[in-house]
Amino acid sequence: MELIDQHDRIATDLRVSLTDRCNLRCQYCMPAEGLEWMPTDQTLTDDELVRLISIGVEHLGITDVRFTGGEPLLRKGLPGLISATKAMTLRDGSGSPRTAMTSNGLGLKRTAKALAEAGLDRVNISLDTTDAEVFARITRRDRWQDVVDGLAAAQDAGLGPVKVNAVLLREHNETEGPALLRWCMERDYELRFIEQMPLDAQHGWSRAQMITADETLGLISEEFTLTPLEGRGSAPAEKFLVDDGPHTVGIIGSVTRPFCGDCNRVRLTADGQILNCLFARDESDLRAPLRDGASDLEIAERWAAAMMTKLPGHGINDPSFLQSSRPMSAIGG
Ligand code: 5AD
Ligand code: SF4
Repeated sequence: MELIDQHDRIATDLRVSLTDRCNLRCQYCMPAEGLEWMPTDQTLTDDELVRLISIGVEHLGITDVRFTGGEPLLRKGLPGLISATKAMTLRDGSGSPRTAMTSNGLGLKRTAKALAEAGLDRVNISLDTTDAEVFARITRRDRWQDVVDGLAAAQDAGLGPVKVNAVLLREHNETEGPALLRWCMERDYELRFIEQMPLDAQHGWSRAQMITADETLGLISEEFTLTPLEGRGSAPAEKFLVDDGPHTVGIIGSVTRPFCGDCNRVRLTADGQILNCLFARDESDLRAPLRDGASDLEIAERWAAAMMTKLPGHGINDPSFLQSSRPMSAIGG
């Protein structure tokens, strides 16, 4: 069995959201007061998560597992979840799944080494600015230095190549592209700019406010020579060589340069729902069958069926686009 859809895309990359909670309040994600968090009894236990991940890996051909949130470091059982995932065998017998984490980096200074030892391969850390005050305005928390320390700790622990995700926002950090790129290159971090997407809980996204991939590329090109690199595959980022290399910069133009046709991703939420797309408005519940004693095969069949309704594209550019009621923090990046 495979996670194939009607457009012949096969999902092999599983994003697992471990919690919808977060210790930052990024403006493009959450309101200042936070959100009503998922009730504990609806959240999967560590054992339940491991069971679903193993069904994905052993029955459905998942090869890559990324832990996300909210903020995945807030989940106590994270090292155990990583080591349990790393103990699984890929369906073709060629080893264990590749593991990665998308995190805001807070607390990584303390945990990076243990996570690497548990079997974490790589991290993507969100950082939108080189300026601590701008950071505090965007995230509503004065924690810039903690993220910077977390990045360094990840690098030291061998969780590289360390990737940095940045979202540019008008009137906050819109001119920071070149400075952020220089800062990342000096530290050997791989920077990727992500276009702001309509995924915020407060539904405040507007196309007119969004800084487009073209605009970002234009700003960076004023200071650096960018050469497009081939071989993107299923990766969301278009990569460019910066000056003569070796550093690269990525542009994730989810809105203006969608890459849905090459998507190989599927998402599992912390409350056990399968989302076949980041923008899906329908979810498929795996928690109920799991808790009702369904077999691995029955759960795998339900999961495979959930992929069949995956739409060819996210439709953000259609006038009829409707934002999902589930915010980014409850889906995972
Ligand atoms: N648009 C684009 N990126 C977002 N992220 C969170 N919300 C949004 C949004 N509305 C980013 C985070 C993180 C990754 C998971 O997605 O900064 O890097
Ligand atoms: Fe937290 Fe990530 Fe949302 Fe920022 S974008 S508030 S770090 S979940």
